[in-house]
Amino acid sequence: MGAAGIGDPDFPSDGNGGYDVTHYSLKLAYTPSSKHLAGVASISATALHDLARFNLDLSGLHVASVTLDGAPAQFTREGSELMISPAAQLAKGAKFTVRVAYSGTPKPVRGSSNLGTYGFIPTSDGAFVVCEPNGAKTWFPANDHPADKATFDFELTVPKGLTALANGELVAGPVTTDGKTTFIWRERHPMVTYLATMTLGDFALRTGTTPRGLANLAAVAPKYNNQLDRVFRLSGRITDYWSTVFGPYPFSSTGGVVDDLNTGYALENQTKPMYGGFIPDESIIAHELAHQWFGDSVSIKRWNDLWLNEGFATYAEWLWAEHNRTITAEQVFRGRMSMTSSPIWNYPPGKARPDDLFNESVYTRGAMTLHALRQRIGDATFFKVLRTWAQNHAYGHATTDDFITLAERLSGRQLDSLFDVWLYKRGRPEWPERPRRQTRPTPGNSRPTPTPTASPAPTRQAGPYRR
Ligand code: TRP
Ligand code: ZN
Repeated sequence: MGAAGIGDPDFPSDGNGGYDVTHYSLKLAYTPSSKHLAGVASISATALHDLARFNLDLSGLHVASVTLDGAPAQFTREGSELMISPAAQLAKGAKFTVRVAYSGTPKPVRGSSNLGTYGFIPTSDGAFVVCEPNGAKTWFPANDHPADKATFDFELTVPKGLTALANGELVAGPVTTDGKTTFIWRERHPMVTYLATMTLGDFALRTGTTPRGLANLAAVAPKYNNQLDRVFRLSGRITDYWSTVFGPYPFSSTGGVVDDLNTGYALENQTKPMYGGFIPDESIIAHELAHQWFGDSVSIKRWNDLWLNEGFATYAEWLWAEHNRTITAEQVFRGRMSMTSSPIWNYPPGKARPDDLFNESVYTRGAMTLHALRQRIGDATFFKVLRTWAQNHAYGHATTDDFITLAERLSGRQLDSLFDVWLYKRGRPEWPERPRRQTRPTPGNSRPTPTPTASPAPTRQAGPYRR
């Protein structure tokens, strides 16, 4: 029997055990006037052990039928679990396709504390679909946890005149018949479920390439028409810049979508970051695009490692400012450091708490952790760590321990205590660091190492950080 959760102790019923999804094929139609979603999800998976029964995650919606490799399968519902009993037991290693026909009105999740509303959110003209951390189940049956990645095909049908946007590239359509338009999108690189989207509505589109030649798509709701070219150009420029800092862009296209639903937040949907109801500034565009490397390509296995996403994307905001000579990362770091009574000192970011996952500390103190590492190991090694991280775990998963091990290997240093005080201990870390024995102390010199004002360039040798 497949477990009802994938094994994340903080989110025990998220995801499922016993199988690994390789591909989702979602054929869905949505009608904004009635808020009705109807369709078929075909999910290809591999059994990880013998399975007489397994679960998918699905919240609300009516399931009309389930088949397994074409044969009708028994199913029951319990909360957000859809439990499926195939006619015959699946053998370990078996590849199978489960097909779920379903319909109804998707209901977003009203998150608690620092989580707003997420999942499939209806708008006046369509829907804004942003699912982190576990809202994919509001619109399709899924193994809804980042530990299971899969490729995706989307065949989305909406009333004529509207645009349906999903991850990856448009591979066919739009085709209009009988007042309905169908868009076929494909994300050929593995993706976690919370990054899947089917945002739809009245959108103006601009397609083309980034200056370096990567496919680029911008889409804006009518209210933001005058932002279309700006979002297109900035998303292209920033994607290109990150590819010089973090290594090759992991996916086949980039872009940005501005909808008019006022959520005030953005999500790093794979290939298509989405901004909810505001004009995105450069900093947030830099953040969401950095997530394409950190979070989307290199993903977490457990939510408590979330700083690997948010700390990195926040540090990227500082790097973008540094690149533009607005303010150095060191100056931002010192500014945060001077806030002696900030609540981030009471929340160690290395273990994001399930009841307060997106705490400010996970972002800011997570980014500060990276800056402390950069100060310790120097620019050349630090940026090599970031690039090696993105490369070694591309399209896969990694943990905080993997990161510490990599940083220690590339720097040749013992970094346990640095990560311990920054990630796992309460209280504001001592800064500047006390001189360490292994670095041959310069007598009377305890000033922090100066930060270069130049932007990090991958080819540059160690600057003022030379050891
Ligand atoms: N990952 C998003 C960011 O850092 C924040 C976020 C978390 C979010 N949950 C969300 C955004 C749900 C939209 C919907 O930018
Ligand atoms: Zn983020």
